[in-house]
Amino acid sequence: MKDVNSLSEAEARAELAELAAALGAANRAYHQQDAPDLTDAEYDRLKRRNAEIEAQFPDLKRDDSPTEQVGAAPAEGFSKVRHVVAMLSLSNAFDVEDVNEFDARIRKYLGLHTEADLTYTAEPKIDGLSLSLRYENGVLVQAATRGDGAVGENVTANARTINDIPKNIESAPDVLEVRGEVYMSHADFEALNTRQNERGAKPFANPRNAAAGSLRQLDSEITRGRPLRFFAYAWGEISAPLAVTQIGAIERLNALGFATNPLTQTCDGPSELVAHYQTIEEQRATLGYDIDGVVYKVNDLSLQERLGFRSTTPRWAIAHKFAAELAWTRLTAIDIQVGRTGALSPVARLHPVTVGGVVVSNATLHNEDYISGLDSKGEVIRDGKDIRVGDWVQVYRAGDVIPKIADVDLTKRPDDAVPFAFPHICPECQSEAVRETGDAVRRCVGGLICPAQAVEKLKHFVARGAFDIEGLGAKQVEQFYSDGWITEPADIFTLRSRYGEGLQQLKNREGWGEKSATNLFDAIDEKRKIPLSRLLFALGIRHVGEAASNLIALHYGTWPAFEAAMAEATGLEGPAWDDLIGVDGVGQVMAQSLVNAFAEPRERASIDRLVAQLDIEESKRADTAGSPVAGKTVVFTGTLEKMSRAEAKARAERMGAKVSGSVSAKTDILVAGPGAGSKAKKAAELGIETLDEDGWLALIDGA
Ligand code: IVH
Repeated sequence: MKDVNSLSEAEARAELAELAAALGAANRAYHQQDAPDLTDAEYDRLKRRNAEIEAQFPDLKRDDSPTEQVGAAPAEGFSKVRHVVAMLSLSNAFDVEDVNEFDARIRKYLGLHTEADLTYTAEPKIDGLSLSLRYENGVLVQAATRGDGAVGENVTANARTINDIPKNIESAPDVLEVRGEVYMSHADFEALNTRQNERGAKPFANPRNAAAGSLRQLDSEITRGRPLRFFAYAWGEISAPLAVTQIGAIERLNALGFATNPLTQTCDGPSELVAHYQTIEEQRATLGYDIDGVVYKVNDLSLQERLGFRSTTPRWAIAHKFAAELAWTRLTAIDIQVGRTGALSPVARLHPVTVGGVVVSNATLHNEDYISGLDSKGEVIRDGKDIRVGDWVQVYRAGDVIPKIADVDLTKRPDDAVPFAFPHICPECQSEAVRETGDAVRRCVGGLICPAQAVEKLKHFVARGAFDIEGLGAKQVEQFYSDGWITEPADIFTLRSRYGEGLQQLKNREGWGEKSATNLFDAIDEKRKIPLSRLLFALGIRHVGEAASNLIALHYGTWPAFEAAMAEATGLEGPAWDDLIGVDGVGQVMAQSLVNAFAEPRERASIDRLVAQLDIEESKRADTAGSPVAGKTVVFTGTLEKMSRAEAKARAERMGAKVSGSVSAKTDILVAGPGAGSKAKKAAELGIETLDEDGWLALIDGA
């Protein structure tokens, strides 16, 4: 490439035009087509080159200069569909022990003996994307992707082009939502990629990406030309049950005209499940489509109902994943990334290698100890072999997880390779990076003065599960941050008032017109009204994940109640503290992290500025109208005989009660089984209503 100083004006003009086109296309590929076609490094290189030429030839700066650009406007996109019944994911089992534990957990929850019959279904886990099809009076009226599980995209027109999906069905319940997986066969995938190559279009990395890209086309005629298929394996809202067992429901779906997987069968217990898993694994290579494991489900639907759900996964099903895929390649560099909590994470840069059909060029190295050959407990791994830049390393990838470096081949280590010196200084803000005793991670102490932490916090804030603002993704946040337009979450909500006047500044950037800029501001305004649980998760407080945020929000209900509790709990003792650690799923570490975040003056001020912009919705448990225990705090103690403690607790929570581990003045009901001790005594002293198990069941069953 020519040095900028030696470019003629004509050459500079031509190169600026090329760069504007290339960067514009890259932005569209990234933001609108979910298919990045440049690596981040290449994208940055082009942007730098463009800026250099513009600096040398300021008069040649184009109206659509990439320097002025904040990503690309979001795709006009699909309308949103709120799922009546959430689309959940599955927890994973990786070995026989996990499968045995899954069975044991279920038996324990249901109070079943080890010898009691318990039948499961086992079926392939299809590696595609899930789709929910809604039929009303036998007519396909809507098709929606999973999205974040609660809200998906309306892809009805596209689903209608898929042959496997019936448009009309006979003798079905009035309302029937059929769920299953859209996928592409190996043969169709190869043929599609050949066509892509012939047309000069980018080939897809694997059949799943091809299926996802094909289903999410704005023009359904493009989807029609893509050979998509569908297997039904579950259902959402239904006006009448399909059957009394899982296998019966699958047979019924098949009779209604849906393709169901022929390898689905019932199994009595873990050893039969694992045997079927092995049979499926043996056939994996010849099935003609990708599968990444076997899904086990409790067969009896009334037991599924009793088992219910954790926050994002059913208790009655699990995905037994196939073993990871491996490949060897050269480690070219170790980079350090700084996350939103200041954690310094080492990332392996690899000579690109294909692992299980996907090209991998980055992998996680976890932390300092992992590089030096120790696990999180300080025990030796890889026979103590450390990992060095230049090493020949084994890359390991399982399903969707970030690839890891599993091993090192010392016979191929270059003579000049040196042990990796993990930095003690944050590479982003030069603050000290300290490692507390017992913590595997080294953290930058810079807090919000560290640009990496600030930007990662912002990215988390706008992510799915958090504020999820349409048109404001990671790329745009980075750009707005580097321009100084947004430095903390509250700034997002003042963007229109600060920069919206005539929309001049935003709409002058390429990719943003008046419409998309207005859309962005509108999308931001739409999220001013936010459920408490999402706000809590969005704050990005260490250890506080999505599931915990839901539980905490349900416990406190409103922002003022939550905020007051955090202020009262600062001493890490007393009733407010006990109440916090009594929340299901909140342990000491998480509780301390929450309380500390609210006690830290700068963080607190930033939260206050944000909250002033919002209308925070109260968190209520669903469908508890008429429940006699809604909003009541219940404590279980002693032995329960009709169900396990876990089931009792889950049932109470489903009916809107808060279940706490300790008796206090806030307790409304104590359910005391045989053997109840100090809690029953305390409840009596406080005059709290006390019921035995039958009394409790009568109370909730009457509802
Ligand atoms: S059952 C409530 N069965 O795997 C549980 N899921 O990791 C509903 N998947 O989101 C899911 N094959 O997209 C089920 N035979 C199968 C499946 C399957 C693939 C996908 C599905 C789900 C994901 C969870």
